[in-house]
Amino acid sequence: MRVLVLGKSGMLGRDVMDTFLEREFNVLGIDRKELDLEYPSRIPRVLKNADPDIVINCAAYTNVDLAEKEREKAMRINRDSPGVLAETCNAFGIPLIHVSTDYVFDGRSSRPYKENDPVCPVNYYGLTKKEGEDAIRSNLEKHIIVRTSWLYGRHGKNFVKTILRLAAERSEIRVVADQFGSPTWAVELARALLKVVETIWRTENKAPWGTYHFAGLGETSWYKFAEEIVKRAKKYQDLTVRRVVPISTDQYPTPATRPGRSTLDSTKISETFGVTLTPWEESLSLMIKEYYDENL
Ligand SMILES: NC(=O)c1ccc[n+]([C@@H]2O[C@H](COP(=O)([O-])OP(=O)(O)OC[C@H]3O[C@@H](n4cnc5c(N)ncnc54)[C@H](OP(=O)(O)O)[C@@H]3O)[C@@H](O)[C@H]2O)c1
Repeated sequence: MRVLVLGKSGMLGRDVMDTFLEREFNVLGIDRKELDLEYPSRIPRVLKNADPDIVINCAAYTNVDLAEKEREKAMRINRDSPGVLAETCNAFGIPLIHVSTDYVFDGRSSRPYKENDPVCPVNYYGLTKKEGEDAIRSNLEKHIIVRTSWLYGRHGKNFVKTILRLAAERSEIRVVADQFGSPTWAVELARALLKVVETIWRTENKAPWGTYHFAGLGETSWYKFAEEIVKRAKKYQDLTVRRVVPISTDQYPTPATRPGRSTLDSTKISETFGVTLTPWEESLSLMIKEYYDENL
């Protein structure tokens, strides 16, 4: 089975490449140099040349704050390209796995979001991702959309790596304590995508198509998340940080509004594809151990 990964150089894309290569899949990764998703019309030719059995789209416009300004660009990459990708996969008779976000929700729910809960993005990035999901659903039956949240990992810029850096430089770190969600280790999302692809392969393209959530088990705030990062890092390194201080969203204004509580319920992907769900604290411990063991 030949798997084409778009966004092979991103935080998730790199873990997806490694995970599939370890399982000895025939994986072809491409990045912006080979296919710039600002130009959706280039997609069919690239897919024809790559000739995959399945496509995994890890590429996206991911700068939540800048998306408020670069609206057209974000929409081309996050809506138009997934739409053309789905149309092309449909023409070639192959499935598409696409990664989406908790930011399609408004964050006002009192319980974790399920897949069929109404979406209502509160920022432009969330809107572009919602539109991308819709474009896929209306162009391709054989799709799996996996919404995830608060992604971190060894590659790229992310919250865990930022806190580790700040904890070594500053005595005090101020972190927002009134936004809640589920931290997700990119390695575990990559493993979940592997399970999905294996099922699609085994069932000869008769998988339960549709939308799924995948995130670390449990819920936390950015503040509590930062505290847990620092607590674990102290086992490996002397840190300069003395205090992690909770602040409110009002004290940390950003161009894009964030949902207040965007925790995802991942039961459906676990029951459908046998994907293992791990408490977010356990995954964080593993990632931080890897970070120090491998001198990342
Ligand atoms: N990070 C999170 O907390 C989070 C949370 C929920 C959902 N997600 C979703 O998870 C997926 C993976 O995100 P990530 O965190 O791995 O993001 P990332 O590290 O920013 O990676 C995004 C990838 O998309 C590529 N890309 C951006 N613009 C492109 C363009 N015009 N043409 C081709 N490729 C382009 C980037 O290429 P370059 O390296 O060339 O820029 C990069 O490889 C995305 O769908 C995102 O929406 C992320």
